Amino acid sequence: MNLRDLRDNWERLGSDDPLWAILSRADRRGGRWDPQDFFATGRAEVAEILTWLDAAGITPQRGTALDFGCGAGRLTNALADHFAEVVGVDIAPAMVALAERFNHHGPGCRFVVHDSPQLSCLLDDSIDFVLSLIVLQHIEPRYAEQYVRAMVRALRPGGVMVVQIPSHTAPTVKGALRRVLALPRVQPLLNAYRRVVERRAGAMEMYAIRRPRVEQLLRDSGAEVCDVRPCTSAGPTWRSFRYLVRKGSGG
Ligand SMILES: C[S@@+](CC[C@H](N)C(=O)[O-])C[C@H]1O[C@@H](n2cnc3c(N)ncnc32)[C@H](O)[C@@H]1O
Repeated sequence: MNLRDLRDNWERLGSDDPLWAILSRADRRGGRWDPQDFFATGRAEVAEILTWLDAAGITPQRGTALDFGCGAGRLTNALADHFAEVVGVDIAPAMVALAERFNHHGPGCRFVVHDSPQLSCLLDDSIDFVLSLIVLQHIEPRYAEQYVRAMVRALRPGGVMVVQIPSHTAPTVKGALRRVLALPRVQPLLNAYRRVVERRAGAMEMYAIRRPRVEQLLRDSGAEVCDVRPCTSAGPTWRSFRYLVRKGSGG
């Protein structure tokens, strides 16, 4: 899916059942997410990540944080409990409008619509901490890799980033099926099926980048890979990882 289709797709998802599009739990479909529960999941995830940083002996400065692919601001609001200023960036205006409605923090937490993989809305060396969960998995690798480079560019020297990216499908029957469904020629057919038969507003395409490739990309972008942890954010049919990286002082 190119970036224009991606934006239109998330715009539809953001207008239809946005909290479920972000956290797709079967029992919360059809507007059944209680916003309080939804935002509590963000606080729990950010707390878990900050505990991980502590355990790794990494303490980002608590100035500016970026939440890339912020959706309704689930993680942005949670980050604002820990950072002086947080910017949530998203490709879909409907998601940003929703995040603005749910902003619990006032001007210290702001939201921006952007559509360039260079993230030209962000200055070089300007951000202390970047977080991106369950976003890059929905973006074709040719763009996702540009976003990763741009996020490292925007980090201050010594700044810290946590990004989640699926690496490959699980070595199970369901994983093998998932691999077929994720093929570039098959995803559009699956999307059409979901739109027509399941009456979904949009599609959630899934993409992966192999772990060694991600680590190389991070290093080539000027970041040190400090730790990598498996995670379940992409669901049981994917082997997915969270990468904890720090930008080198030399840029
Ligand atoms: C599954 S939601 C996750 C939202 C948020 N990260 C969270 O965990 O609550 C994915 C979000 O990524 C956004 N997104 C998808 N492609 C994007 C892109 N190329 N640039 C910025 N945001 C994007 C979507 O609009 C959507 O809000």
